Amino acid sequence: MISLAVCSAKGGVGKTSVVLGLASAALQRGTSTLVVDLDPQADATSGLDVSAQRPHDVAAVLRDPRRRVAEEAVAPSGWVSDHPGLLDVLTGSAESAGLDGPDADAEALKSLRRALRKVDDHDLALLDTPPSLNGLTRSAWRAADAVLVVSDASRFSVAAVDRTLREVRALRPAPRVVGVLVNRFTQRSGEQRFRYEELRSLFGDLVLEPLPDRAAVPQSQGAGLPLHALRARTAKTLALQFDAVLDRVLEKD
Ligand SMILES: Nc1ncnc2c1ncn2[C@@H]1O[C@H](COP(=O)(O)OP(=O)(O)O)[C@@H](O)[C@H]1O
Ligand SMILES: [Mg+2]
Repeated sequence: MISLAVCSAKGGVGKTSVVLGLASAALQRGTSTLVVDLDPQADATSGLDVSAQRPHDVAAVLRDPRRRVAEEAVAPSGWVSDHPGLLDVLTGSAESAGLDGPDADAEALKSLRRALRKVDDHDLALLDTPPSLNGLTRSAWRAADAVLVVSDASRFSVAAVDRTLREVRALRPAPRVVGVLVNRFTQRSGEQRFRYEELRSLFGDLVLEPLPDRAAVPQSQGAGLPLHALRARTAKTLALQFDAVLDRVLEKD
């Protein structure tokens, strides 16, 4: 199983949307995927249309990373009814907020890694995180082979990306940085073009092709559908971009 932590130090930049876009791309190509919803807002769980009530959720798994607890926190995504196991969710809940302190100890940070080793029957794990670099995001980094940093193209995000990359690279072992994905990019905004170029000058090829701001993203989420299921041309273009990001995630280094 390859695991990817999708993170950012800033809120509302599109982490969950990127997780959902990658889950949609993985589903399209038949890659079995487990989405791990670490954000107390549990938007990924809701976006993946989970309806089954499970006895446990991710907060219980972080507290007690045994196989039984982890298995009982996993629910199928409503995107797939006909292929059990193809897309599942380690469900999120508001409970995990209590585990997002700035000074979680090293043992606590390892519990997600331990739990994922016990539910490793998928090819890919996508870890959605809250908008901070506290305990939950750090647990995701510890559990992940690779990290994708999501950002907008604004003045404050340049510093946030820099801080995130420094912290990830200081980890031992350090996960592979797949890239920096600028989301909701508006080409006609001079300020955004300027900030995108600033990110490119600082982080070079790590900065991926930006994802444009498109109504297809909230539309797919509102309809509870994978982006790849939408017919609109803009949805198809975005879907191709998520395919390319997924290629980078799955490529061997
Ligand atoms: N590329 C995009 N184009 C248009 N809207 C987007 C795009 N990416 C995200 N959004 C919208 O922006 C809002 C915040 O995105 P979300 O993925 O929840 O961010 P985060 O998980 O980082 O808090 C959501 O309403 C989402 O639908
Ligand atoms: Mg989110």
